[in-house]
Amino acid sequence: MKPLRFIDSLAVAGRRVLLRLDLNVPIKNGAVLDDTRVREAAPTVRLLAERGAIVVACSHLGRAKGKPDPALSLAPVAPVLAQYVGRPVGFVPDVAGAVAQAAVTAAQSGDVLLLENLRFEPGEEANDPEFCARLARLADAYVNDAFGTAHRAHASTAGVAALFTERAAGPLMARELHALTTVRDHPEHPFVAVVGGAKISGKLEALQALVGKADTLALVGGMANTFLLAQGREVGASLVERDLLDTARDILGRAAARGATVILPADVVVAAGLDAAEGRVVPATAIPAREMVLDVGPATVAQLESAIASARTVFWNGPAGVFERPPFAAGTLAIARAMAASPAFTVVGGGESVAAVQQAGVADRISHVSTGGGASLELLGGAILPGVVVLEAEA
Ligand code: 3PG
Repeated sequence: MKPLRFIDSLAVAGRRVLLRLDLNVPIKNGAVLDDTRVREAAPTVRLLAERGAIVVACSHLGRAKGKPDPALSLAPVAPVLAQYVGRPVGFVPDVAGAVAQAAVTAAQSGDVLLLENLRFEPGEEANDPEFCARLARLADAYVNDAFGTAHRAHASTAGVAALFTERAAGPLMARELHALTTVRDHPEHPFVAVVGGAKISGKLEALQALVGKADTLALVGGMANTFLLAQGREVGASLVERDLLDTARDILGRAAARGATVILPADVVVAAGLDAAEGRVVPATAIPAREMVLDVGPATVAQLESAIASARTVFWNGPAGVFERPPFAAGTLAIARAMAASPAFTVVGGGESVAAVQQAGVADRISHVSTGGGASLELLGGAILPGVVVLEAEA
């Protein structure tokens, strides 16, 4: 990766700065359910406003598919952002039309505006040049602090950036890239990677990259079932990806060839279904035919704890079980606590693992909690992120 242009290289006083944030947060009945991304974005907004910029903040929310959808409006996010920034945030009910243009023209140095959901415009996901030009007319300079969306080549992350001579990465983007490229390119050893979640698909590139680097690869959550099945175990009624059995065998084979340790569940918590009031612990060699695996068992937790405690680098993505349900949360919360207690450089990526770290109350004891799920996995998998490449100094 080439060096990036950073925010300090921009003269912002009295100038309009288009600030791409990732404020894609869960909203229910107009209330923000998890404000992590808003909280993480706020210092950059404050920094620009304190330096006298007119901050024109923008983000997507959900998958609006190019049409306005009141349930996906960014309006409920504006007061939350204002609270964290410590100054008013003027919500603009328009993305890049005449209303937005008028709001930007009327704004003064130090003001903060938040535009409506970028994905209400079809040109956003299409990276449409006409939409990029309209967005660009709203500002004099561009800052991208939306690491969570850096893997998307959309108008606000890719096309519009190229239209600004003055463009830079924000501080959150810089911190994310530093933490995740450290894990990817020069992790201190022993390096333990814990990968969980429902499915292998969607994490394949990252898994392939991690199996080539980690000293210990721990495979947990729903995806572990496919690995267990690939080893010839019966996994009962559990979720499996039968089309990925060969891929799972290949990953296990690569780990063995490198002499890496693979931790697969030795014991699991099973139940008849997700709604079960409780589960029971069985060895992974004796999963009942009509039951499904919903968490890892205590012997597996002990193995994970010991690997994490003696690591120098730990990366974790994806829960070990259905942790939203208390009977199946123990494995996931134990990983979160083990990471917090470890002296290693610890990085957590992905919405669910981040939620688990918060549920366990240990987020402030993790070296880096990433605001990017898909983006962090793509980066670890070796992909070039379109939202980053356009911020490179020589670009
Ligand atoms: C995310 O939540 O991973 C980012 O905000 C990107 O959202 P998307 O997957 O809808 O592009």
